[in-house]
Amino acid sequence: MWHLKDLLDGVLESVQSAQMLVADTNSWLEGLLPVVVEYRRLGFVLQDFFRHELELNRQQMENEEEKKGETSIDINPHNLCRRYLAEPEKLLNGDMDLIVLAGDIWTGGMETTLTSIRWAILFFTQNPDVQEKLHEEIMKRYPRRSSGQFSFSTRHELPYLCAVMDEVLRLANVLPWNISHHALKTFKLNEHTMKGGS
Ligand code: HEM
Repeated sequence: MWHLKDLLDGVLESVQSAQMLVADTNSWLEGLLPVVVEYRRLGFVLQDFFRHELELNRQQMENEEEKKGETSIDINPHNLCRRYLAEPEKLLNGDMDLIVLAGDIWTGGMETTLTSIRWAILFFTQNPDVQEKLHEEIMKRYPRRSSGQFSFSTRHELPYLCAVMDEVLRLANVLPWNISHHALKTFKLNEHTMKGGS
């Protein structure tokens, strides 16, 4: 697990570096900038990590299939990897789809969420009154375990929480700049024409 954490930290450190910003705007420089070269290398190591995990899950599923009827060691039958392995036809590009998806979730999803929570905790230490007010709102809406489950669709029931999250994301430095994109081909969006390559 620490190996994965080190890889993720390495990838994110390079993404946030000044060299990456330069490479984003001058793609011809990519091969010359050490941080970008390292980012690529780590990206491939990360892919190998997920490929290995995928293989372990596949083997485990095959073993369970063979032992059907006997007690099998089933760590988590609902994990994402297993869901797709059970329906491989949904992977349009084979294993690579799942490997890239795992990378998106861990780097794009997990680390961003974690960094946002860290900032929130830091802000709470500086603003205990906000923490107290938020705690009150949550306890009022969910006084008992049986009071229901919080979800994205019920978030409007906790307006102060929404405001706090907005404020944390406004103040926090989660991703210092946007991810660069370019249009693969010319397309129209409403009245705007985007030229291919721009
Ligand atoms: C507080 C949490 C999050 C923050 C602050 C955040 C922030 C961002 C930002 C700033 C971008 C770049 C947008 C752009 O330049 O167009 C981005 C893109 C992206 N995020 Fe998040 N994100 C968060 C959570 C997540 C989660 C939970 C997932 C998936 C499970 C995710 C997956 C992605 C992906 C795949 C992209 C790339 C989209 C593209 O290439 O157009 N993010 N995110």
